[in-house]
Amino acid sequence: MEIKNDLQIKSFAEYKKVYKQSTENPEEFWNQVAEKFTWKKRWDNTLAYDFNKPEVSWFSGGKLNITENCLDRHLKTQPNRNAIIWEPNNPNEESRHITYRQLYVKVCQFANVLKNNGIKKGDRVCLYMPMIPELVVAMLACARIGAIHSVVFAGFSSTALSSRINDSSSKLLITANEYYRGTKAIPLKEICDEALKNYNTIEKVIVYRRTINEVSMQKNRDVYWFDELQKVDLEAPAETMDAEDPLFILYTSGSTGKPKGMVHTTGGYMVGTTYSFQNVFQPEPEDRYWCTADIGWITGHSYIVYGPLLAGVTSVMFEGVPSYPDYGRFWEIIEKFKITHFYTAPTAIRSLAKQPLSHIEKHNLNSLKVLGSVGEPINEEAWHWFNDNIGKSHCPIVDTWWQTETGSIMISPLAGITSTRPCFASLPLPGVQPALLDENGKEIIFNGQKAEGSLAIKAPWPAMARTVWNDHQRYKDVYFSAYPGMYFTGDGAYRDATGNYRITGRVDDVVIVSGHNLGTAPIENAINEHEKVAESAIVGYPHEVKGNALYAYVILFNPDDASDELRQEIKQEITRTIGAIAKPDKIQFVKELPKTRSGKIMRRILRKIASKDVSNLGDTSTLLNGNIIDDIIQNTI
Ligand code: WT7
Repeated sequence: MEIKNDLQIKSFAEYKKVYKQSTENPEEFWNQVAEKFTWKKRWDNTLAYDFNKPEVSWFSGGKLNITENCLDRHLKTQPNRNAIIWEPNNPNEESRHITYRQLYVKVCQFANVLKNNGIKKGDRVCLYMPMIPELVVAMLACARIGAIHSVVFAGFSSTALSSRINDSSSKLLITANEYYRGTKAIPLKEICDEALKNYNTIEKVIVYRRTINEVSMQKNRDVYWFDELQKVDLEAPAETMDAEDPLFILYTSGSTGKPKGMVHTTGGYMVGTTYSFQNVFQPEPEDRYWCTADIGWITGHSYIVYGPLLAGVTSVMFEGVPSYPDYGRFWEIIEKFKITHFYTAPTAIRSLAKQPLSHIEKHNLNSLKVLGSVGEPINEEAWHWFNDNIGKSHCPIVDTWWQTETGSIMISPLAGITSTRPCFASLPLPGVQPALLDENGKEIIFNGQKAEGSLAIKAPWPAMARTVWNDHQRYKDVYFSAYPGMYFTGDGAYRDATGNYRITGRVDDVVIVSGHNLGTAPIENAINEHEKVAESAIVGYPHEVKGNALYAYVILFNPDDASDELRQEIKQEITRTIGAIAKPDKIQFVKELPKTRSGKIMRRILRKIASKDVSNLGDTSTLLNGNIIDDIIQNTI
C-alpha cells in the first residue's frame, strides 16, 4: 500500500480546510491518518489528556509494531526500492544501497541477536554508533522486539555516555570499534571502555567492526556483531506493542544541569512523524531524500530513520563531514545520488556560504526539488544564499520549527504549497495549535494584527514526548508549569498580520535590564553588524542598580583589532539600532564561544561566568569545545 497519496495535502486551499478540520475535531482528523497504518488491533480511544498532571495518551488500546510499518508493509509493494543509500566518510570507499527487503532481513536477524544476548521487551539498549546503516538496523531491531533504544551521539564524551547509560539503566551497549570523521579517527570502543570503568548497568557490549583495526575485547562482556549474526535465524516475529509503550529515550540538554531523557512512545510517534514528513517535504516515490543531521539527534530519529522509512521513501545517510575531503562534499553527494530533498541546518549553511562558489559550480544540482532548514532561526543572509546558490531560486525552503520534545515538525511551510519567506517558519501543521502568550501568560488571540510573545501549544499532538525518563515531575515543571494547561516551548515568536510565525529565539535568554525586557538575539545582531565582528553572545549578570546588566562576548575576525575604541564603536552600533538601554556594560573579546554540538551557544555557561559564579558550571558534556572555557574565565572583566 502506498500511503503517500492519501496523506498528502496538495494545495493551499486544502491545507486551510484540513487545518480547520484538525482543530475542530482532532480525534476524527487523527483517526483518518492513523487508519493508513498497519495495526495488530485498532485503538479504542483516540486521545485522552490532562495537561495539568500532565498525562497524554494517543490511540490507547491500539496494538502494533512500528517496524511492520517501516518494513513488512513495504515488502508487498516495493521490496526492491532502496530504503537506505549510505555514503561513507571516505569518498573512495564504496557507497551502500540497501533495499527495503534487505533492511527487513538485517533487522530481523539483529533482533534475534538482541534476544540471544538477553534483551527483552522493555529493556533499554544504548546505541553509541557512527552514522552507518547498522545504527538504523540496531534501532529497528530494538523496536522489533519491544526494547527501548537510547541513541547517544557518537561525538559525546565517555562521561556523557556513562551518565546516559546509568540514567536509563541500559543493559546492552552497541558500538563500533572505531570510525573516521574527516581525517580524524574516533576510537569509539575505547571511549565505551572508559565509560564502563565505573559502576554501570551494562551487561553486554556488541561491537561492529567499521575498520580493520583491532580493539581490546573484554571476555564474557564484549562480542562482535558479525560473530553474533552467524548464530541466528533470518525471521523474527514483531513483538506486539501497546500504542503508548515507549519506543525510545533521547537525551536533550536543559537550561539546568543534567540532560533530560525524553520518552517517545510508539503509536503517536509513528503517526506524527509520517504525517509531517509526507506533508512538509511532499516526497514522491522515486525521490532521494537526504537529511544531513546525525541520528544521535531527534532530527535523525524522526527524519532520517522513522519518517522516511514509514513513508517508504529512500533515505540517504552520510557518515562524514561537509569539509572532507573539501568543502564541495555536500554538493558532490547531491550530484552523485541525484538528491531531490536536502534538509540541513543554518549553522552548516553559514559555514558553507563562507567557501568559494567554485565548490558548488563544479557540481550539477539540478535534481534538487526541496530544501529544508532546522535547528535555529535561519537568518536572512543564509536563507538567501541557500535559495540562490543551492536551490537556484526554484526550490521551496521549508524552515521547520520543532524540538526534541515535540518529536515531529510543528510549524513549517509545506513544500510547494505554503508561500515561503526568509526567517519565517510560517504556519502550523494540521493538528498543531500554537498560541502566543503575553507577559501575563494571556493568549494573544489572532485577529489580523501583528503580535509577539511566548510560544506555547494548546492541545496535544501525537508525537509529543510523554515524560522525562524517571523524572515525571521535571517534565511537568519544565513544560507544563509556566502556563498551566498548555505546553510551553521555551521559544518566543512573532506572528505577522497573515498569521505566519517567525521564531525569535529562546525566551529564556531574555534579560531584564532596569525593568526593560531585552532579547539577547537582537542585541547580538546589532553587534554583528560591525564589520570587525564575526560573532557574539549576550548574557545578563546581576547588577546592583539595574537588576541585571548585559555582558557581551565578542569574537573578532582579527583578534588584533581588540581595543577600547572598538568597544565604544560596538556600543554606538547598539545604541544606533536598538537604543542606549541595550548597551552592554562589559565587552570581552574571546576566541570562541562555548557551543553545543548542534551549534547553539551555551548561554547558561556564559551567564555563570559573567556572574563570576564558576564553582559549578553544570553539565558541560554536551559542549563541542569545552576546552575554551578556562580561557574565557581567566579573561573575565
Ligand atoms: C530548539 C529545539 C528539532 C530539531 C533540532 C533541534 C530551535 C529548532 C528551529 C527553526 C527557529 C528553531 C528552537 C527550539 N529551533 N528549529 N526552524 N527556527 N528555531 O532540536 O535541540 O530539541 O532544539 O531549537 O529554539 O526550541 P532541539
